[in-house]
Amino acid sequence: MYTSPANTLFMGNQIISLPECHSTNDFAAEKLQEPTLSEGTVIITDRQTRGRGQRGAEWVAAPGTNLTFSCVLRPTFLPISAQFQLNMVISLAILDVVAEITHKPVYIKWPNDIVVDDKKICGILIENQLRGSVFASSIAGIGLNVNQQQFPFEGPTSLALLTGHTFDLDEVLGKLLHVLETHYVALRQGNAPDRATRYREALYWRNERHTFTTLAGEVFDGSVRDVDQAGRLQVETDQGIRLFSVKEIVYTR
Ligand code: BTN
Repeated sequence: MYTSPANTLFMGNQIISLPECHSTNDFAAEKLQEPTLSEGTVIITDRQTRGRGQRGAEWVAAPGTNLTFSCVLRPTFLPISAQFQLNMVISLAILDVVAEITHKPVYIKWPNDIVVDDKKICGILIENQLRGSVFASSIAGIGLNVNQQQFPFEGPTSLALLTGHTFDLDEVLGKLLHVLETHYVALRQGNAPDRATRYREALYWRNERHTFTTLAGEVFDGSVRDVDQAGRLQVETDQGIRLFSVKEIVYTR
């Protein structure tokens, strides 16, 4: 059973804690039909049966050992053209918490995978609901590997693997919600001019030469430099800067 953090204004004031659920993002979307669902409501479960990842992938996490939850946000103050700001806010909030806990360098693998020691520790699935040309709501789905120590495939890591000890899930959730609220309120108030700089500096593979593959199967070498206002990845190649939207490029090696 998860409890509301004591030190937040609204984030996590209402926590819907489910022993099992298909996907907390889907559950949140169903709940959003109720207009009274307040901003900051968190849907959390010990076990997702149809957890969803980016690009239509499945999100699988060992039951009861990790955080799998969704936050309901109402960023009605944000122009749609600035929606990538929300990605930055959520990614940087998680980065800050993971860095504080692990004392390690933490990176954002564009658009919003959180990576430590070249391994993914957290996946984020943000789903926006628009009303005409403005935001109605947004569901920020977060899967953070906390106490899981064995994974069925190479690639992921967890807070426990990185630190050598296990964590109280409720405590980690409380920290996350507190930091997320701080970043989100700064966005709402138009503060944090360094957000884009911090995001850029945290980009995984930034200023390193690597190989990428486009959706069309083209393989090329280049260096991640930045993201533009629309959230497209800028990769510098021998032919100049190329811009990619989500799904258009895969980090290869
Ligand atoms: C990714 O890296 O592909 C994104 C993974 C997002 C997983 C979280 S777990 C909680 C929420 N509910 C879902 O079905 N997905 C997100």
